[in-house]
Amino acid sequence: MADPRPRTVEFRGRPLALPAGATLLAGLAERGLPQFQRSVRYHRPRAPFCGVGHCSQCLVRVNGVPNVRACRYEPAPGDRITTENAWPSPRWDLLGALDLVFGRGLDSLHGFRRPVWAMPLYHRVIRRLAGYGAPPTADPAPIAPPREIRTDAIVVGAGPAGRAAAARIRAAGRATLLVDRSPVTAPPADVGLLAGVTAAFLPPPGRDGEFRLAATRGREGMILRAPRVLLAPGGYDANLLFPGNDRPGVMTAEGAMALLDRRGNPPFRRALLVGGGARAMEMVDRFGAHVEAVVAPTQVHGTIAERAAELDIPVFPRTLLTAAHGRSRVRSALLRRRGGGETTRLSVDAIVLAHRRLPHVPLFFQVGARMEWRGSTGAYYPVLDDALATSVPGLFTAGESAGFVAPASAEASGIAAAEALLDRPARLADLPPRTAGEGPHELEGYYRELLAGRTGRGKLVACACEDVLLGEIDAAHRAGYRGIEVIKRYTSLGTGLCQGRYCVPDALLLLAQLESRPPSEVGFLTQRPPVLPTPLDAWASLPDEADPEAGP
Ligand code: FES
Repeated sequence: MADPRPRTVEFRGRPLALPAGATLLAGLAERGLPQFQRSVRYHRPRAPFCGVGHCSQCLVRVNGVPNVRACRYEPAPGDRITTENAWPSPRWDLLGALDLVFGRGLDSLHGFRRPVWAMPLYHRVIRRLAGYGAPPTADPAPIAPPREIRTDAIVVGAGPAGRAAAARIRAAGRATLLVDRSPVTAPPADVGLLAGVTAAFLPPPGRDGEFRLAATRGREGMILRAPRVLLAPGGYDANLLFPGNDRPGVMTAEGAMALLDRRGNPPFRRALLVGGGARAMEMVDRFGAHVEAVVAPTQVHGTIAERAAELDIPVFPRTLLTAAHGRSRVRSALLRRRGGGETTRLSVDAIVLAHRRLPHVPLFFQVGARMEWRGSTGAYYPVLDDALATSVPGLFTAGESAGFVAPASAEASGIAAAEALLDRPARLADLPPRTAGEGPHELEGYYRELLAGRTGRGKLVACACEDVLLGEIDAAHRAGYRGIEVIKRYTSLGTGLCQGRYCVPDALLLLAQLESRPPSEVGFLTQRPPVLPTPLDAWASLPDEADPEAGP
């Protein structure tokens, strides 16, 4: 049984007691919105954004190991935890002056080139000022020998859809392996479990029709083999671009939930809630007394409007967020109805993004599944047949990547996909309607108006991991660069720790406006696994056939 006593760690040189069983982020949330780091280029203040281990805004150094995500890390007694990329502290960072000095951005592609003899010096200085943390100081533990696991079916994702699917496949007598990147409590009986694992597809099934996934857990490498795979990787709350969107206090709905204190209080007093669909409704119900207003880039569903009216919360449908003000924390937000109108200023200390859920899709792209763009959510989804089978034979999906967002419908879709994987007739007619959409192509209109109304003042951060500005994307477009892959290579958008999760969907919508073509023609990033930070020696321990760079 876990020790329930508080754990004392050393945090920034001082003893700190944290509740047992809580992540570092949740433990510190008791004291207000934590700030762990500054941004990589401009040293802009940053605070936790996603709360689920996908962004790059809660990185700390633990016992000499850099870039540990505070929202995923459960501290052990005696841990030495420090913050990085800020001096003397993330709240008061001297290098924050860079943000003010380069108020319109820093052209690192063309600047710092002359005189030529000084370039090595520039590089040294820039490398010290920018980037994530410093290399590890701890001696690495020995690498575990790689393992090979063969099974009848692999299910990736242990959410409602994946768990239901794994249980159904196992009940049919097939050996089943359930894989998830997070800890999994109470997995289905008799199902093999690999938790805390990062997995990537190796080149597509060979003549033997077998899928191969390279997986790592810490510094342990594994090859997983199975003739059938069911992907249920779930989804996440999306980002939204607006001036000031990288301010501390801007967070996703998942981030807000991860920052609840022990009494269930949110990390804000008055929040602006962004969204007009089912996810926003959940947040109104959860945080109603702390919601200053509901604003949606698209339409607002009638049920939200009714609920908000009951709670006396003003609602702003089809509205642009034209600015978030405040330096160390959001203090206010400016709104303007789409199509023109009065500007409204609201005093808020947080902006909670709950306007759309997006599916995790990198594994589908890696394995070469056919994908389609859905304008209703502004995201790619795998193309599926009626049995939830993808275009890759033997590969099925369920849950959010199939458009089933609510837990009950995700679970039902997991059972249906498992039946299809078992070559049994799936009861698809019994499935609830898919609920992935929020509104038809309205986000494209939001970004059209955002671009048209830009004043050019201040920084609008399009990629928070790498501090890439909207102005840089615009400049790349004017210089003749086209398509998301080329824009990525030119600007470094999408190359940070979130691997494009929070910037690429919106960058596609922006580029569609700039390039006057549909987002699907702007393309998608070439997937280069692993998509999560992984110790290189774990990959190096795998047999040659597991070369993760060997594309399909
Ligand atoms: S808040 Fe921890 S990774 Fe996003």
